[in-house]
Amino acid sequence: MATYLIDLSPDDMKRRLPEALRVYVDAMRYPRGTEEQRAALWLEHTRRAGWKCVAAVEVAESGTGAGAESGTDAGTESGADLIDAPLLGIAYGYSGAPDQWWQQQVISGLQRVGASPGRIAELMASYFELTELHIEPRAQGKGLGEALTRRLLAGRDESHVLLSTPEINGEANRAWQLYRRLGFTDVIRGYHFAGDPRPFAILGRPLPL
Ligand SMILES: CC(C)(COP(=O)(O)OP(=O)(O)OC[C@H]1O[C@@H](n2cnc3c(N)ncnc32)[C@H](O)[C@@H]1OP(=O)(O)O)[C@@H](O)C(=O)NCCC(=O)NCCS
Repeated sequence: MATYLIDLSPDDMKRRLPEALRVYVDAMRYPRGTEEQRAALWLEHTRRAGWKCVAAVEVAESGTGAGAESGTDAGTESGADLIDAPLLGIAYGYSGAPDQWWQQQVISGLQRVGASPGRIAELMASYFELTELHIEPRAQGKGLGEALTRRLLAGRDESHVLLSTPEINGEANRAWQLYRRLGFTDVIRGYHFAGDPRPFAILGRPLPL
């Protein structure tokens, strides 16, 4: 099998939503059924300004005829034959904006940790929210997460990228390793989003990556 990276349009995401959500639930090891709770939100996100989605897909090597590459040397073909190939990973995000719940939550968190209004305005003025990044468990640890992140963040207009990730003891998981390797630094630690008992970190870094 060979792995390719492709861009998904809002229509592609709509069509492939059940499969994309399955990758998310498997990667996060959430219970089955979580998909249904997220479906409407993921679709609503496709309509936000600056939304971009990238995916890793798997194809039989003989099927592409396009010099398919494997593993982390993922190819970047985007032909019609790839658009419906099975998903191995998915990542998307959009431009941050004041009417978004996530931005409002991050502003409360920044106020709580004593950030100045100037610092908050500077952080919120122009950022890309890296909203979701998930790789099928069997395909993790081969560099696909980094490849998707780089593709997603390439050519953005925003001055920086922000994301949230669950706090893990010792930052000992692949998400933390990836974000640190890519130069993400702490914006807020141990933050509790409304309605979620888990502590999260908000991380960010300047763009371009
Ligand atoms: C977090 C996640 C997206 C990272 O994706 P990934 O593909 O597993 O991770 P990376 O891109 O960082 O690659 C990881 C490994 O590939 C290795 N790698 C990098 N380039 C490589 C290459 N060219 N060839 C082979 N291996 C390579 C790295 O050394 C790294 O090794 P390590 O993790 O054992 O230290 C993925 O693990 C995942 O979906 N996890 C569960 C869901 C999750 O936590 N999502 C984020 C929530 S905020």
